[in-house]
Amino acid sequence: MFTVDVELGERSYPIFIGQGLLGKPDLVAPFIGKGKVVIVSNDVVAPLYLEQTRQLFPELDVAEIILPDGEANKNLDAISHIYDTLLAGKYDRNTLLVALGGGVVGDITGFAAATYLRGINFIQIPTTVLAQVDSSVGGKTGVNHPLGKNMIGAFYQPRCVLADTDVLTTLPLREVKAGLAEVIKYGLVYDAPFFDWLAENSKGIGESDSALLSQTIKTCCEIKAAIVAKDEKESGVRALLNLGHTFGHAIETASGYGNWLHGETVAMGMTMAADLSRRLGWIEPNVALRIRSVLEENFGMPVLPPADISVEQYLDLMLSDKKAESGKIRFVLLRAIGQGVVEGDIAPALLEETLTSGDNLCR
Ligand code: NAD
Ligand code: GLY
Repeated sequence: MFTVDVELGERSYPIFIGQGLLGKPDLVAPFIGKGKVVIVSNDVVAPLYLEQTRQLFPELDVAEIILPDGEANKNLDAISHIYDTLLAGKYDRNTLLVALGGGVVGDITGFAAATYLRGINFIQIPTTVLAQVDSSVGGKTGVNHPLGKNMIGAFYQPRCVLADTDVLTTLPLREVKAGLAEVIKYGLVYDAPFFDWLAENSKGIGESDSALLSQTIKTCCEIKAAIVAKDEKESGVRALLNLGHTFGHAIETASGYGNWLHGETVAMGMTMAADLSRRLGWIEPNVALRIRSVLEENFGMPVLPPADISVEQYLDLMLSDKKAESGKIRFVLLRAIGQGVVEGDIAPALLEETLTSGDNLCR
């Protein structure tokens, strides 16, 4: 087992990564407190892992809230449902919420924990690659609004994260690949040798080789923990972790939540960011092409955005991005592989070329 610490003073916490962790109550025991435990999961993950997760809390009063699966249900209705259940059951401030699921369950549960009775403890048990490498770490919680992705939320850190890699064996291949988009993101914005290592090991990682996957998850958590420790609330370096997300969130919102997986739109968005960086002259054409090729050929990800989103739609949606300032869209772009930058002054003509490139992206 690996342990990675997120250093945030009195709100510091460990991330446990490894096999068989759902069978280790000792790991979570220090974080349970003296109240009741409520596991929040969904109707896909609960049949697979709820009983095992209950065993993490032996001899305790453990209840459950099971949400409908899917990004389309990451909304305020889910939050209301959690509040209704907790209030009806008279759950007090000592209650511990446990998020058991992917990024959708984790983001919803974290936001409910941040706001119920002005804040109760929660722990994350991420069950997708994406959640184990990214969403369960760092305390971004929240839900979608029909007008924009992740528009309602709070920064609120979990007490610990328990990433049991055994649960990834039931994850559909499409979901594994979508999660790997966020993995590649870390290499692109922060760690060139990690990007090269991922490209070299793409076959084994894509086939979910457990040693390679654990190493990958550990490296991603180390990078994320270092960035979050420097900039918890995204006033600086943490914005780099949004590479591909300004384009990606617009694609997700325009396509209807759930039609593309979040990680798939991030892969498209990173290809668009590489294309725009090349048009700005910041990376060489062969570097942009390599980025597209690693995403598309090594990892089998979709890299071309849907053709039916107009430039006007993109601009409108991207102006609602949380990074936008004073009516300017701010993009995470690349000065090199491993060197992300945030930039707001982009010539409109270059942006339009990227948005209308179609299959010529990065070419
Ligand atoms: P998800 O939570 O929808 O999970 C993907 C699918 O896999 C779902 O159908 C889920 O029920 C199923 N599933 C989960 N674990 C499984 C398992 N072990 N076996 C079988 N099926 C399983 O999607 P996701 O990709 O995990 O997360 C995407 C969400 O995360 C988005 O809403 C995105 O905005 C959010 N996100 C948040 C952050 C953050 O920092 N908070 C970072 C990145 C992404
Ligand atoms: N997923 C981006 C962040 O946590 O900041």
